[in-house]
Amino acid sequence: MTRRETGFDTATRIVAGDDGTNYDPVAIALHWATAVLVFALFGLAISWDSFAKPIQETLQSLHVSLGVLLAAVVVARLVWRWIPGHQVGSIEAGWVKLASKGAHYLLYVLLVAQVALGFLFRWAQGHPAGFFGLFAIPGPFGQLDRPTRHQIHDFHEWVGWAIVIIALLHALAALYHHYVLKDRVLKRMLWGNGRS
Ligand code: HEM
Ligand code: HEM
Repeated sequence: MTRRETGFDTATRIVAGDDGTNYDPVAIALHWATAVLVFALFGLAISWDSFAKPIQETLQSLHVSLGVLLAAVVVARLVWRWIPGHQVGSIEAGWVKLASKGAHYLLYVLLVAQVALGFLFRWAQGHPAGFFGLFAIPGPFGQLDRPTRHQIHDFHEWVGWAIVIIALLHALAALYHHYVLKDRVLKRMLWGNGRS
């Protein structure tokens, strides 16, 4: 059974820079959907080379379909976050707060860039961005020349690696908070945090 919070507990949390806010259920669902999709997209991209051509192409169109889904999830997360009352104050203070905010903003910037590069790349190949055969988003231009395609491919690959490395460090930081510092940083990003 969890102990009810006393006034003293609340006061110490406020002094520590923790205003007691939690992520809401929609924000939590969008965060974990982003995490699952990013790792699935990366896993597909680094493994399709070891398969024969037809399977490779199926994995690539699965990558694009999940990419379209990621685009929707990232847009939904940014819109949700932008609506007043949906922002969550940092538990941290000083440089740690700055670093964690910096990492989160960097992740958003890289995610948006990666989605844009992904669409650009699909269109540059002369294909629409399909979604599980249900619909396809056609590109505003036709197939681009080989050097341009290579350039877009390389950017998309670098940004993909950057996202995965930063996200892994971000996850390690969250686990460090949970298991070593034993604070609420990870818990407030989980369902059952009191607001969900
Ligand atoms: C590709 C994977 C991931 C991405 C792109 C990602 C991205 C983000 C972003 C952008 C935020 C800021 C949310 C906001 O305030 O708008 C955030 C918060 C958070 N993430 Fe992740 N995340 C990923 C995976 C993970 C994993 C695996 C964990 C845990 C093991 C985790 C734990 C957290 C926690 C605890 C917060 C809240 C931090 C706080 O309260 O200041 N994330 N994540
Ligand atoms: C964070 C999310 C993503 C990651 C980590 C990621 C990662 C990668 C990587 C590493 C490659 C290069 C694989 C190789 O050259 O063998 C790749 C290829 C590709 N990605 Fe992504 N990607 C993401 C999102 C997207 C999105 C949103 C789209 C488009 C809707 C997309 C479309 C493509 C396409 C068309 C290819 C080339 C497939 C081919 O060679 O035909 N990606 N991706």
